[in-house]
Amino acid sequence: MKALVLAGGTGSRLRPFTHTGAKQLLPVANKPVLFYALESLAAAGIREVGVVVGTYGREIRELAGEGGAFGLRITYLRQSRPRGLAHAVSIARDFLGDDDFLLYLGDNYLPQGVTDFVRLSAAEPAAARLLLTPVADPSAFGVAEVDPDGNVLRLEEKPENPRSTLALIGVYAFGPAVHEAVRAITPSARGELEITHAVQWMIDQGLRVRAETTTLPWRDTGSAEDMLEVNRHVLDGLEGRIEGKVDARSTLVGRVRVAEGAVVRGSRVVGPVVIGAGAVVSNSSIGPYTSIGEDCRVEDSAVEYSVLLRGAQIEGASRIESSLIGRGAFVGPAPRLPQAHRLVIGDHSKVYLTP
Ligand code: G1P
Repeated sequence: MKALVLAGGTGSRLRPFTHTGAKQLLPVANKPVLFYALESLAAAGIREVGVVVGTYGREIRELAGEGGAFGLRITYLRQSRPRGLAHAVSIARDFLGDDDFLLYLGDNYLPQGVTDFVRLSAAEPAAARLLLTPVADPSAFGVAEVDPDGNVLRLEEKPENPRSTLALIGVYAFGPAVHEAVRAITPSARGELEITHAVQWMIDQGLRVRAETTTLPWRDTGSAEDMLEVNRHVLDGLEGRIEGKVDARSTLVGRVRVAEGAVVRGSRVVGPVVIGAGAVVSNSSIGPYTSIGEDCRVEDSAVEYSVLLRGAQIEGASRIESSLIGRGAFVGPAPRLPQAHRLVIGDHSKVYLTP
């Protein structure tokens, strides 16, 4: 079985981060979210992976390379504009040939991996097999109606009045019949070729479409809140390891990872926390559930439940909580007078001020 990983898209809910990079490269515990997907494909025994990329293809290619580090062989396929998941399948037609494949949305995080789903898909072939999970807000997803035997009866993309609570997780297994389906459909109201519609087309043709329902954790890391939650989840499984320098005035509590080349001075760090290479933390209180990226600088500040991307700097901030701070961003003190907030923030940024 091959895999097709989608790593294009606009990522509008993750602006401003997606103005300057791919959402699939946003770090979770200092590792791009896409890497968790690639690792779980390798763990499931898949070797041949097509990665569909858009605007930030070069950056993704530079980081993931030819896949050798994951035990994979990666072929990059370029989607010139984000025209939908089914469109991404159609541009991968030559790469996929008539092989069965797993379609994996590269911003989805499934801690349990895909090994069981891949094994089942190989053992009991179907035209399509979907992975579903009950959610509180089904209208934000593709929604499936399933009979008691696990046959999918009907699918709807982001329905106003969902007929079930079962959302499509971003993992699907397909046989070659999907290629005819993606050719048969037309763009949706949001102007995209929806994979949901292609699967509905297969159901309408009388093809066998099966569903697996899971209640294990899963996240579409489409928004800042989701990113922070996935970060918390991954940090829960973190093992502490100190490779950098921690001075005698600092206290580390619980599982803390300080990468080689990172420095912690006069600070208290309450795990789980990961501090990336080249980062300097001084006179601060960090954690719990915080990822400090490479080359960040945190001084005279308190930071908890947050993610700092590479090179971010925080100075004199009495308490920062549940925040996602972009690459090279600076947060620091304003002059004492006038007592006012001073902001230089990019397009589509969000700032929440305490009174
Ligand atoms: C896509 C699919 C949707 C699915 C979701 C899972 O939505 O269209 O059916 O439930 O991924 O993350 P999108 O993220 O493109 O809005």
